[in-house]
Amino acid sequence: MTAMSTTSEFLRACRRESVTRRPVWFMRQAGRSLPEYRKLREGTTMLESCRRPEMVAEITLQPVRRLGVDAAILFSDIVVPLAAAGVDVDIQPGVGPVIAEPVRDADAVAAIRPLAADQVAHVAESVRLLTAELGDTPLIGFAGAPFTLASYLVEGGPSRSHARTKALMHGAPEVWHALCERLVQITVEFLRVQVAAGVSAVQLFDSWAGALSEADYRRYVAPHSAAVLSAVAAVAPDLPRIHFGVGTGHLLPAMAEAGATVVGADWRTPLDQASAAVGPDRAVQGNLDPALLLAPWPVLEAEVRRICAEGDGTPGHVFNLGHGVLPETDPDALARVVELVHALPPA
Ligand code: CP3
Repeated sequence: MTAMSTTSEFLRACRRESVTRRPVWFMRQAGRSLPEYRKLREGTTMLESCRRPEMVAEITLQPVRRLGVDAAILFSDIVVPLAAAGVDVDIQPGVGPVIAEPVRDADAVAAIRPLAADQVAHVAESVRLLTAELGDTPLIGFAGAPFTLASYLVEGGPSRSHARTKALMHGAPEVWHALCERLVQITVEFLRVQVAAGVSAVQLFDSWAGALSEADYRRYVAPHSAAVLSAVAAVAPDLPRIHFGVGTGHLLPAMAEAGATVVGADWRTPLDQASAAVGPDRAVQGNLDPALLLAPWPVLEAEVRRICAEGDGTPGHVFNLGHGVLPETDPDALARVVELVHALPPA
């Protein structure tokens, strides 16, 4: 690190400032593709490991050391604040979050308690440990957006169709909005704790929002995500706010308008199109198909070059995947992608 580089390339790209090399990090970089992660996690449940600051710090740092990425993402999960607020939720290996008592009526919504900062004191402690260790490498904090959290709560677990969620949204809109308002409070508190403890950027994961039409997204979801993002902007106006979902090509303008400064796109939408959709005052993040990390290097190399070329026209490009790293990924492929992105001329 030279004495001159005081601001990270990742933060500069998020702010649409010029960079000397294109920044890159990977969603789910701190996870199951790393053998050192699997070893550390042995015998500890996912939620329990999220509550141990030393373990969180070590898992968060592993990919930074091994892959040479430009940012760290806090090791946690979108359901951590729900569990901390008292929701009976478990993360089952190979399945994802499972809710003991699905939320489908006004009484169940009323039973969801607000989150208090001291219930996630371990998250603040993890962030403090990490910012001390990371030096100039930024730490990204995150939360799940109200729709994606609501989908787990209403369905009781992962769902392909989000049918019960959509039925509630349309059939009992007052219950739907009350649920989302509770989730906004929990999400805002969770993010505020991370910001106060020192994260350099936040990402709001609305992973499953792509299941909605644009009209439904704007009507039932965007106002709640906007409430979260504006609460973050109120406490930290200059902190980059990344907004991401899968299959959201048709929602990109609405997701930008919800208050993001960086919009993530999955592999279905070329970055030049994504950039045109969100406009010149937003940076874009993405969008290598994570499946291609399993392809032979020449294929992967060509894809990385294409994505960087498509990112060249955007006001700021943060290289990433179009969704999370798959568990069967060879970490060496990730490291090679980082090397190539850094070797190509920046946008
Ligand atoms: O990006 C990172 O490396 C930071 C850690 C992180 C995790 N979850 C750790 C995790 C992040 C950013 C998340 C966010 C998350 N969690 C999202 C949004 C991002 C996305 O991928 O769309 C969602 C939808 C969840 C809910 C969730 N938690 C799922 C779908 C799963 C996977 C279930 C499985 O095993 O296939 C989890 C568990 C989870 N979260 C793991 C990790 C490393 C796997 C736990 C394990 O190793 O047993």
